[in-house]
Amino acid sequence: MIVCICHRVSDRDIAREVREGCASFAELQSELRVGTHCGACTDCARKTFAACQTAGEAHPMRVVPLQIAQAGA
Ligand code: FES
Repeated sequence: MIVCICHRVSDRDIAREVREGCASFAELQSELRVGTHCGACTDCARKTFAACQTAGEAHPMRVVPLQIAQAGA
């Protein structure tokens, strides 16, 4: 879904930024410029950003140790 038409920002772009550590809406705007032209998308962008943060908390990035199967073990 396109969130910001002016800067061609999608919900996937916002989700990616959150996954990569974007922690504030101001930072998101700095990275993607979402909501920085006409401003019509700002409410939707904020809601999408909040939803992505919540989803990230529900499914935090995990590091799963790689286990190498030992043949015959
Ligand atoms: S639609 Fe996002 S700034 Fe215009």
